[in-house]
Amino acid sequence: MTQDATLEAREVSKVFFSGSDPVWALDGVSLTLEPGSFTCIVGPSGCGKSTLLRIMGGLEPLTSGEAVRAAPDRADGSSHRDSTPAPRTRPAGTQRIGEAFVFQEHGVFPWLTVLHNVAFGLRMSGVAAAERTAIARDWIARVGLGAFEGHYPHQLSGGMRQRVAIARAFATGSPVLLMDEPLGALDAQTRQLMQEELLTLWESERKTVLMVTHDIEEAILLGDRIIVMSTRPGRITSDIEVPFARPRTMGVERDPAFVELRHRIWGLLKDDVRATEEGA
Ligand SMILES: Nc1ncnc2c1ncn2[C@@H]1O[C@H](COP(=O)(O)OP(=O)(O)O)[C@@H](O)[C@H]1O
Ligand SMILES: [Mg+2]
Repeated sequence: MTQDATLEAREVSKVFFSGSDPVWALDGVSLTLEPGSFTCIVGPSGCGKSTLLRIMGGLEPLTSGEAVRAAPDRADGSSHRDSTPAPRTRPAGTQRIGEAFVFQEHGVFPWLTVLHNVAFGLRMSGVAAAERTAIARDWIARVGLGAFEGHYPHQLSGGMRQRVAIARAFATGSPVLLMDEPLGALDAQTRQLMQEELLTLWESERKTVLMVTHDIEEAILLGDRIIVMSTRPGRITSDIEVPFARPRTMGVERDPAFVELRHRIWGLLKDDVRATEEGA
């Protein structure tokens, strides 16, 4: 099922004034996400990927430009807009409209069981206890944690904790998922397993996904489109369509076109990554 949700950044710039020197994180970034599409962002460390994701999700105010989140499933059919200048009095996070975030780590509450973690977003949006338990159980089963609903995060592996975070994001029912290196802290095998799982979940739900990853292969494997960003201030330097059909199967990474695309994207990133490493 394709979900009707559009996220858009229009000429978004961001300067952080929190330290002694201002940090110019984003410069004129424009990006429109089509409903039901899976978009990946790659770029060197510190180029503003997380900042862009947070701005698009309404967790971070912008300095200039506009972030538009059209959510036609909302009762009033309205869309939400953040635009310049961001009122200084508005604390970050107050404008969330239910997009579901998945972060690299620490995205689950250690004091809640798997069941209560997954049901958390539903509880926040006022879904009744019986219904949210049923929805949460369904998602827990779909990420393969059916036997662990009473466990606490410290009793789980890193991969299982990320499954909890992913289940929670899907369980919210949000048409938009924003993921910031969701598999980035996992070992290579777990990561590969979870790429397949994420692919299957997404192909059955077709949510609008924006995912940051530092793994080019992961971006090609999962995404319809790959956005390449340059070093700070972050700008979009390439916007690449991934040509592989859906449903996508593992093994596509052996396709010569896959290998060629990986090389091409690495070619676009390499100099920036090197410069970032040397400057660090
Ligand atoms: N809250 C903040 N205050 C000051 N600087 C920040 C803040 N958040 C991020 N930055 C800076 O903005 C730049 C972009 O950060 P980020 O979006 O986290 O990059 P990425 O996710 O691509 O690694 C970095 O130089 C980072 O240090
Ligand atoms: Mg980041």
